[in-house]
Amino acid sequence: DFRPIILAGGSGTRFWPRSRRAEAKQVLALDGERTMIQRTIDRLEPLASSGKTWVITNDLLSDKICCQLDKVPEEQVLCEPAARNTAPAAGLAALLLEKIAPDSVLGVFPSDHVIADEVAFVATIQRAVALAAEGENMVVLGIQPTHAETGYGYIETGEALRDGILHVRRFTEKPNRARAEEFLAAGNYYWNSGMFVWSAKTMANAVREHLPEMTPLLEEIVAAWGTPHYDEVFARVYPECENISVDYAILEPRSAKGEHHSQLYCLPAEFGWNDLGSWSALYDFKAGQGNQDAQENVIETRGSIVLESQGNYVYSPNKTVALVGVEGLVVVETADALLVTTREHAQDVGKVVKQLASDG
Ligand code: GDD
Ligand code: MG
Repeated sequence: DFRPIILAGGSGTRFWPRSRRAEAKQVLALDGERTMIQRTIDRLEPLASSGKTWVITNDLLSDKICCQLDKVPEEQVLCEPAARNTAPAAGLAALLLEKIAPDSVLGVFPSDHVIADEVAFVATIQRAVALAAEGENMVVLGIQPTHAETGYGYIETGEALRDGILHVRRFTEKPNRARAEEFLAAGNYYWNSGMFVWSAKTMANAVREHLPEMTPLLEEIVAAWGTPHYDEVFARVYPECENISVDYAILEPRSAKGEHHSQLYCLPAEFGWNDLGSWSALYDFKAGQGNQDAQENVIETRGSIVLESQGNYVYSPNKTVALVGVEGLVVVETADALLVTTREHAQDVGKVVKQLASDG
């Protein structure tokens, strides 16, 4: 009994101006016709029907998400009254599912990643579910790292449990540059994909063990589920939860128990994963899919003119854009905003949103 839990409460500020608070990355179609959250659920369809899927998001996004996901029952779209990062979100799902589907295996999935090979994805998740169903195993999906990215978690792997499944020796969330370089050079580290598969019971026990202060708050919300008080209790209690991610709250401390005691396993995954963390990551992804011209420009706007320009990314549905003699730019135009930056600085676009917010 496999239940996907989709985390969809992030704000995706690095995709400004296309993403806004009520229009985060997961509800946009950055790649093709379907939005990122629709594609997340589509690719899980061979493993679980939409009727078994749960989505955790916030009030700002919930209308959009309910429209986009017409097959997910509305009561399975949980709307946080305040963003508290992924640990309370996943923790709430775990305690709730432990109560209403005690024998289920949960898969927690971000809603804003692209995966090129969906057949390999399904096969990998199937293996993870089988492993998680064997007792108390906690399975994280690892990605072969290609560079010293500091925005990811790193999984140090140890001995093999059996073919293709590795013990986790240590989990380190978002290391600094020097450590990320060390990890990359060592060869036995994987990036955390942010997807994990545990039984509802195991996940709920992990919440009780690692988040003892948050547990009674989440339990109060679970107890109110299905009663007329649920909305009021959720709105009052959830904001009291600590703002912390699953990675810091559960994976790091759990891994500190050591490779033979933590019951944490890494399943290395090869399915063409990209977390689309920035305009530059989107450029790389689209270029990799063959959407670039001979000068390596990715131009998402018909009728644009590109002269003596190289390695640029352009998105502008409403205007003709002309590039003349420029290199490595990102140009994104929407109805009320224009972004001009370089691929190199694409990570800093989130700062624009901060500044706009502080200017009111
Ligand atoms: N419901 C809910 N509420 N969802 C949230 C919240 C929240 O408060 N905050 C984030 N999310 C969702 C995001 O929409 C995204 O789908 C997912 O949870 C992960 O959050 P991110 O904010 O994107 O995390 P990250 O990119 O910094 O780091 C995580 O992902 C990396 C891989 O992309 C970590 O798990 C890293 O270890 C990992 O390498
Ligand atoms: Mg992310």
